[in-house]
Amino acid sequence: MSERLTETPPDVTLGPLDLIPDGKARNFVLEMRAGRFHGFVVRRGETVHGYLDLCAHLALPLSNRLDAYLTPDGSHIQCSWHGALYRIEDGACVGGPCVGAKLRRWPVMVRDGMIVTA
Ligand code: FES
Repeated sequence: MSERLTETPPDVTLGPLDLIPDGKARNFVLEMRAGRFHGFVVRRGETVHGYLDLCAHLALPLSNRLDAYLTPDGSHIQCSWHGALYRIEDGACVGGPCVGAKLRRWPVMVRDGMIVTA
């Protein structure tokens, strides 16, 4: 099994911003020589927020269905397992079993209409 990475190099192009519908989230898996990185990106308008796909509660992947990272109303990130709720802006847990903990940020940005790692 390849190692699970917690960082990516800068300037990796993930794809066009329109890959993610506004207000939705998308999973990304990056295969690198050193191992595999699992993260997800939430789009809000022209802004993107990226996090490692790792719940702050039991360190499980947040979503048990593809790209299902958000509450039905799109207002928060929600873990599929025990319902931890996280703010999209800063990854702070504001509900569920790990209030006060934080998702680990994956620095991403939009440049010339493309989502790239920072
Ligand atoms: S593993 Fe995410 S809430 Fe428990």
